[in-house]
Amino acid sequence: MKTIRFGLIGGGLMGREFASAAARWLHLVEVSARPEIVALCDRETSVYAWYRDNLPSLRQVTDDYRALLANPEVDAVYVAVPHHLHQEIYCAAIEAGKHLMGEKPFGIDLAANEAISAAIRRHPEVFVRCSSESPFFPCMQKLCELLEQNAFGQIIEANTGFLHSSDLDPGKPINWKRIARFNGQYGVLGDLGMHALHVPFRAGWRPRNVRAILSNIIKERDDGRGGRVPCDTWDNGILLIEATAGADGNTFPWTVKLQRMAPGHRNTWFTEVLGTRASTRWSSANPQMLEVLRYTPGARQAWEQIQIGYESAFKTVTGAIFEFGFGDAILQMWAAFVHELAEGKPRGKFTGCVTPAEAAASHRLFTAALESQAQASTVRLQA
Ligand SMILES: NC(=O)c1ccc[n+]([C@@H]2O[C@H](COP(=O)([O-])OP(=O)(O)OC[C@H]3O[C@@H](n4cnc5c(N)ncnc54)[C@H](O)[C@@H]3O)[C@@H](O)[C@H]2O)c1
Repeated sequence: MKTIRFGLIGGGLMGREFASAAARWLHLVEVSARPEIVALCDRETSVYAWYRDNLPSLRQVTDDYRALLANPEVDAVYVAVPHHLHQEIYCAAIEAGKHLMGEKPFGIDLAANEAISAAIRRHPEVFVRCSSESPFFPCMQKLCELLEQNAFGQIIEANTGFLHSSDLDPGKPINWKRIARFNGQYGVLGDLGMHALHVPFRAGWRPRNVRAILSNIIKERDDGRGGRVPCDTWDNGILLIEATAGADGNTFPWTVKLQRMAPGHRNTWFTEVLGTRASTRWSSANPQMLEVLRYTPGARQAWEQIQIGYESAFKTVTGAIFEFGFGDAILQMWAAFVHELAEGKPRGKFTGCVTPAEAAASHRLFTAALESQAQASTVRLQA
């Protein structure tokens, strides 16, 4: 099996998720390549011990990402750092000729994203993708099959989103994700938005205009040292988009709901598509159940509730009768990245990671959403 030697820049929450997925590669069957993490970079030296203890393959540990990028042993990098560093480190990785899995939002703002896109254009030999694991839940993969089969007919309405309640506690101290300087003006849109856009963009849905309502619910938080500091990022966002799904010019309303303060939700991804021939809905609150309604004129309308087990895009040792979770989706996403890097193409239309073009489309939408919020009006997007 081919080995791709990875450097990891940013060894926090998502860095550990990648290390865990790479360590569990034997879970996958029928893969032609595997990742091996040979280098780690983090500014925070306290994270090193966990990686040293758990990754026997680790040969370089540094606090300088330039040293890691200069390491000829490293073929590809995963960069999982705060948003204000995306442009600098992604561009440096691409210029160094390293294949790149970057994290969302793939640049703190539109200008940063454009700089990253320009670096990619200068280096077509480098494979670049953005992380988003939500499509890899088996129910989402089935929903994607329906999209691929054009089973919905004309789309009447769509609703996608990502809800959690990690910020409901007003006593939770501030961190970089709640400070616009590090997280970006997009706030919750940049944090959660990609997960609700990846499948729709891959399906070919294009936003024509957007009306956004964004909320900053908690404006100040504890700084963790007994003081109070501004919490200046958007907590929640609702986007009402007029979208097209194909060349026929039909438009439909598409809502994208992104909330850090959604009472009752822990980590809820959802997708609902209502069409003239079929409709479907799925929520990770009930991860194994996909609902489908097939409409035949004159016939009784009934939602079918289908139990979908561990029927993953990339086969694993786990049988289809068992259940699937967040860590499994991360492993599947990494299988998709490594497969596409090794084979030169994704296994299927909906089994590829977010492309730079899709990330750029998300930036155009979020930038228009900020403008809509500022003007309290609908903002058009370029075709
Ligand atoms: N795909 C997902 O589900 C998901 C979930 C959470 C976060 N994310 C994204 O992942 C990225 C990182 O988020 P996180 O939750 O892992 O953050 P984190 O704060 O847990 O980890 C970030 C790490 O980067 C390190 N770092 C900071 N500056 C650095 C520098 N100059 N050089 C090297 N390392 C540096 C920090 O010390 C920290 O260990 C963000 O883009 C975020 O939006 C994605």
